[in-house]
Amino acid sequence: MKAATYFLETFGCQMNVLDSQLVAGQLRELGLRRVHSSDEADIVLFNTCSVRQHAEDKVLSRLGELKPLKRRRPETILGVIGCMAEREKEGLFRKAPHLDLLCGPGELYRLPALLAEVSQRREQVAALAGSQSRRTKVAQRAFDDDALEAFDLSRLAALRLTMPHTADVNILQSYVRVQRGCDKFCTYCVVPFVRGPERSRPPRNIVEEAQALVDQGCREITLLGQTVNSYLHQESGRPVRFAELLERVHALEGLDRLRFVTSFPADWDEDIFRVLRDCPRICPYLHIPAQSGSDRMLKAMKRGYTVAEYLKLMDTARKYVPEIALAGDFIVGFCGETEEDFQASVELVRRVEYKSIFVFKYSPRPGTTADRGRQDDVPYDVKARRNNELLAVQSEISLQQKQALVGHSVAVLVEGHSKAARKARSAGVGSRQLVGRTPHDLITVFDGEASAIGSLVNVRVESVSPLTLFGRIEAVVSPPRPARG
Ligand code: 5AD
Ligand code: SF4
Repeated sequence: MKAATYFLETFGCQMNVLDSQLVAGQLRELGLRRVHSSDEADIVLFNTCSVRQHAEDKVLSRLGELKPLKRRRPETILGVIGCMAEREKEGLFRKAPHLDLLCGPGELYRLPALLAEVSQRREQVAALAGSQSRRTKVAQRAFDDDALEAFDLSRLAALRLTMPHTADVNILQSYVRVQRGCDKFCTYCVVPFVRGPERSRPPRNIVEEAQALVDQGCREITLLGQTVNSYLHQESGRPVRFAELLERVHALEGLDRLRFVTSFPADWDEDIFRVLRDCPRICPYLHIPAQSGSDRMLKAMKRGYTVAEYLKLMDTARKYVPEIALAGDFIVGFCGETEEDFQASVELVRRVEYKSIFVFKYSPRPGTTADRGRQDDVPYDVKARRNNELLAVQSEISLQQKQALVGHSVAVLVEGHSKAARKARSAGVGSRQLVGRTPHDLITVFDGEASAIGSLVNVRVESVSPLTLFGRIEAVVSPPRPARG
């Protein structure tokens, strides 16, 4: 292949961020150099999200912007990878005829071969899990899973490459996948269609990957899955569940922090709370989406729990780990949501006292049960108003929680320069503002030298906003850790 450079832009969730890192590793092994503008790139890739229409619209508009580039330099390879490729399938070639490549999230391990095919044949190429039914493609799936396992582990090889652009991959805080896909089929959600059935990775591979990352200087690992608490893998005829997996990763020497997202409220296993309580390096943070505070809506969403059951789970979490930080997702304006249903969500947010919530306006997804069977009958402006109202309620709660921390010291893993500092520095203005997070996932901003990046520090909180703690470094608890050997 003649290509020498690539541009890769990521949309969507942490799973996509991880996939993009793996893709970056693959392309680096091919000898390609990453560039930060599509204008300079021989290959332009968008790793896409389908969870809401808005995410897809952004990609379609980015694709539109690339038409002049493709006209000027037709040899540029333009690819859409990830969930939107899988959802739209070849139909995306009709919407964007200047596209060369489609690759679903389950086929990413094939990307180098696909790029070679495009550049040799100069015709559109698509690799998708496709239209096979979930059952009939078991054999193909097993083959793909082996290849995907190798794909996840390929990062270890990429880590060993000492090329100047290793900065593509953030090692300090790394994601490690524990599951692929989802079997829950919440009625609004497209994920089970684009990422396929739920499969748990072998614990041995997860631990091996985590250990290798720690050896390279990683201090914080976040285990990723759509419903991590349903993790289940048969190891030599014996089931390994999520609580045990957590314990095994927690036991790794040199790991400072362990997190996991996302948890599913139904089928919760109390052993996970025990592990959370007993393992000090597991961060006291639980992201456990409620989606609604109305039983009627939860039923229509097919979430499999009631508000009372969800509340009981939150209470149990606090019984085991009293200071735990809880985060949740809410959808507003789902089909048939009345003002009363929405107020029930407001009530739930007040009751739970989350650390933070993510609120989404319902977006119908083609092919889902809700889209086929229900009317998207809440007007957009009502969704927008409910969205703002729920965020405002949470904002008050977040501010109060943070105000209680003023004058206290918090433990922070220093991630890098703050957004404001990066902006100032790129405009040529010096700024020493750094940013990091506490174990409770509170964003903390303070001044310090760049040499502090990668260290664990104590920060004395001086002031707060609903989203951020501001303070000053009091002590360096542990300096940046270099890679071993
Ligand atoms: N519309 C709006 N929000 C959605 N989510 C998932 N599907 C949709 C949809 N169709 C939200 C859920 C989920 C988060 C990742 O995205 O809240 O937890
Ligand atoms: Fe979507 Fe529900 Fe699966 Fe989450 S649990 S990915 S919301 S289907």
